[in-house]
Amino acid sequence: MSLIDRIATLEAEVAKAQARTADEVERFRVAMLGRNGAVTELFEAFKQVAGEEKKLLGQRMNQLKRSAQERFEELRDGIKGAAEVTGPAIDYTAPASTEPVGSLHPITLVRQRIVEVFARIGFTVSNGPEVEDDHHNFSALNFPPDHPARDMQDTFFIDLNPGPSHEEKGVAQLALRTHTSSVQVRVMENSTPPIRTISPGRVYRNEAISARAHCMFHQVEALYVDKGVSFAELKGTLDYFAKSMFGPDVQIRLRPSYFPFTEPSAEVDMSCTICGGVGCAVCKQSGWVEIMGCGMVDPAVLVNCGIDPEVYSGFALGMGVERVAQLIYRVPDLRLYWENDVRFLDQFTAAPFRS
Ligand code: DAH
Repeated sequence: MSLIDRIATLEAEVAKAQARTADEVERFRVAMLGRNGAVTELFEAFKQVAGEEKKLLGQRMNQLKRSAQERFEELRDGIKGAAEVTGPAIDYTAPASTEPVGSLHPITLVRQRIVEVFARIGFTVSNGPEVEDDHHNFSALNFPPDHPARDMQDTFFIDLNPGPSHEEKGVAQLALRTHTSSVQVRVMENSTPPIRTISPGRVYRNEAISARAHCMFHQVEALYVDKGVSFAELKGTLDYFAKSMFGPDVQIRLRPSYFPFTEPSAEVDMSCTICGGVGCAVCKQSGWVEIMGCGMVDPAVLVNCGIDPEVYSGFALGMGVERVAQLIYRVPDLRLYWENDVRFLDQFTAAPFRS
């Protein structure tokens, strides 16, 4: 067959080539354009041609090669479209690619754990507003009118009516609550004993932000009011809480203290979980760390909330969630809890608690 006939045959073959699978496309490419393909071979034979004929045939050869290449691309793209409809070849045994998952904030994990521990001994959760009035945050809790905690230095007041002072206009003053003890008042005002409740939430204080202090943090308040509630029950509850939260070897001790809303009042220390009580930087070499305040609800507070102190007594306690988290996670800088740096948050995929 002359070269020109072979070109014509191949042109026809290229024009009517079909392929239904990627294999067939590849077979077409190899048969035409591969190292031993028909078109390639034709170019070998073409080397023998000389003179005027070479020029003429050369153009057709190049044309043939181009159409073979184009046809290959058409066939390949056609298969691609079909593959999308029927679906690509899937390896169903391949491991799934994992999506990054979020994690709960360490403060949330610790708060949930505190709620769980108290739930086991019958405490239910109650909430109150973060914007609070003077009555619930201070007055009903027996804070004298000139108590320093009411001071502008500590409390973020909310100006509802900018202009002359609230007192002048007779507008009740609102503030961001400085502690979750305000929820105690709301619960006692709205229910009758027995009351067993805990109130987790955000609190605010006008403090300069540093590694050791923040203007917002979290507290959990607990309140138990019933007939005959004693200080011994408070102590038993504290011991139960500390051991459930930090492990069976943890010891607690109480130091006399003062809070306007409890009498007697105490500060609760726990044997340092970091050094086991030997002494370290966290416990300032004392072997003890302070974890909360507590006491017997002052009879005046019960009266303020409509509960008869002749019939009922109660205990209350309040702790900082960041403080508890610090002792569990050993994160010394409080600011980290608020920065929401994913590199920090990523590390808290599960709570290190035993169930
Ligand atoms: N409200 C106190 C504070 O913010 C904490 C506290 C102390 C709460 C003693 C209590 C308590 O219920 O009995 O510092």
